[in-house]
Amino acid sequence: MNFLELVSLRRSVRSYLSRPVEREKLDYILECARLAPSACNRQPWRFYVVCSEERKAALRRCYPREWFAEAPVCIVVCANLDESWKRGCDGRDHADIDAAIATEHICLAAAELGLGTCWICNFDVAECVSALGLPEAVRPVAITPLGYPAEAAGAPRSRKTADEIIERI
Ligand SMILES: Cc1cc2nc3c(=O)[nH]c(=O)nc-3n(C[C@H](O)[C@H](O)[C@H](O)COP(=O)(O)O)c2cc1C
Repeated sequence: MNFLELVSLRRSVRSYLSRPVEREKLDYILECARLAPSACNRQPWRFYVVCSEERKAALRRCYPREWFAEAPVCIVVCANLDESWKRGCDGRDHADIDAAIATEHICLAAAELGLGTCWICNFDVAECVSALGLPEAVRPVAITPLGYPAEAAGAPRSRKTADEIIERI
């Protein structure tokens, strides 16, 4: 599978089987996240891999959707704001950008292995912080369930055309 095929294969999965994710597949996905680039190579991320039923039940409160509860694993990608790079000219914190790159590495690696993911940012931050017991400097950026999709891929995703989004100047 080439890269275009992989990015075409990845899609948001909102229905999961209870089938467990093999440890070696989880490790492969996390290694792909670990190798992501980051501003000034600060690597400010922390990956909370939520597998236990108690912790998953607590996490569910931050995003109460039935399909979110189905996946056997959830990965919460967090950023440590004490470690992230801030741009000199305007102080912009690059923590979210770094965490987002790592999150997409997770999603693409999972797709390569036949596993489903779904970016989730529309979660209740306070509930997430409480469920994971996060320290003050560590902020959740994105969550993804991880598991085997319960449904076949649907229609091709709708995307803007190249003409709409590319300016050749
Ligand atoms: C930053 C970001 C945040 C997202 N947050 C959510 C979310 O909270 N809930 C959800 O169901 N999907 C969420 N999504 C998934 C998008 O809806 C989805 O990627 C988009 O519709 C394109 O579909 P595709 O992923 O199948 O290609 C998010 C995606 C991104 C990149």
